Amino acid sequence: MRAGFLSFCYRTTRFIVTKILYFFQGLFSCPKDLEPAVKFGDAVLSTISIIGAPLYNFKIPSGKDVGVFGLKFPSPLMAASFKSETQILNIWLRMGLGGATFKTIMKDERSGNERPRLQDASLAGEKGLLNSMGLPGPGMTQFSREIPGHDLWDIDRPLGISIGGGSLSEYVENVNHVESALKEKSFSYFYELNISCPNTLNGQTIGEDPAQLDTVLNQIRATVSTPISVKVSPDLPNEKLEQIGEICRSASQVLINAGNTQFKTPAEVEVNPKTFIMEGGGFSGPALFRRTLDMVKLFSQFDFPIMATGGISNIHHIRAAKENGATLFGMATALVLDPYCIPKINAQL
Ligand SMILES: Cc1cc2nc3c(=O)[nH]c(=O)nc-3n(C[C@H](O)[C@H](O)[C@H](O)COP(=O)(O)O)c2cc1C
Repeated sequence: MRAGFLSFCYRTTRFIVTKILYFFQGLFSCPKDLEPAVKFGDAVLSTISIIGAPLYNFKIPSGKDVGVFGLKFPSPLMAASFKSETQILNIWLRMGLGGATFKTIMKDERSGNERPRLQDASLAGEKGLLNSMGLPGPGMTQFSREIPGHDLWDIDRPLGISIGGGSLSEYVENVNHVESALKEKSFSYFYELNISCPNTLNGQTIGEDPAQLDTVLNQIRATVSTPISVKVSPDLPNEKLEQIGEICRSASQVLINAGNTQFKTPAEVEVNPKTFIMEGGGFSGPALFRRTLDMVKLFSQFDFPIMATGGISNIHHIRAAKENGATLFGMATALVLDPYCIPKINAQL
């Protein structure tokens, strides 16, 4: 009831704010750009957190917990890797996520692509997002320095550290870098190898050449025993996914995160190409779910845990993915459009 009402308020405010934003962008002849609306949504949530706990503190119903390689998730709902603002992750966790994955971190500080790099999009009548953020972030040194001090650890739910890299050795070095900052702590965390980001050429090659994944996993396992999630792209053909499955099966404490955004040109997803900086980007949202389910089915032949990501936004998605073998469920676009889906889904689990 409370979640339903707050969800309505959030969606209505978001709708109005987005329309006003587009009106003024048109008025001042600026290109349409969704990013300010997302920032506004984040600011609203942050303000709410000052006003009071009733607006964002939701209890996770008991008995919904799942365990993966010793990590205890009080709910199977996860924030997929796309957000780095800890204040927002904190609020989503208090709304009832079982865990959250930080946005992919690269070796060097990056400002990402020029804007506009995020737009409302639509595929087969389903609303979603098209992004070409280009992995903006503070870089590994700053990230590793700050991460042990985050108040997110106080909530005591597993956190994922998503690692990207411009080469095989960079992936390994990046994991080792974070591990040296966290290994003495008693935090609950896992690594996620983003081998599927469509925005960086090198990031994509590991998924395209699974032998490289084998090398990276072996090199990481030489020094690090923390659980690892391997996040695969829905754009990879099934044969490659099966090869990746074989490699992950023979590695220790490795789970699969199936999957990520799908590569689309702006025209394919009803975005005006003139309002998007790149020729294509990562499409996300409910239209991805069919492919996510296919991937979950494919990976269910292996005996590692599966996180389903891509298009998940309601209890029906969760049930279908769970029946086919998924244990954890990652969400990104659904959290942007309405984070109150978290308590609503938790109540229906
Ligand atoms: C704005 C935005 C930024 C993203 N950044 C990352 C990222 O840094 N690393 C990553 O692995 N996936 C990233 N993703 C992909 C999401 O984690 C998720 O896999 C994808 O959006 C599909 O899930 P969804 O349909 O629930 O959004 C991003 C998605 C969006 C929309």
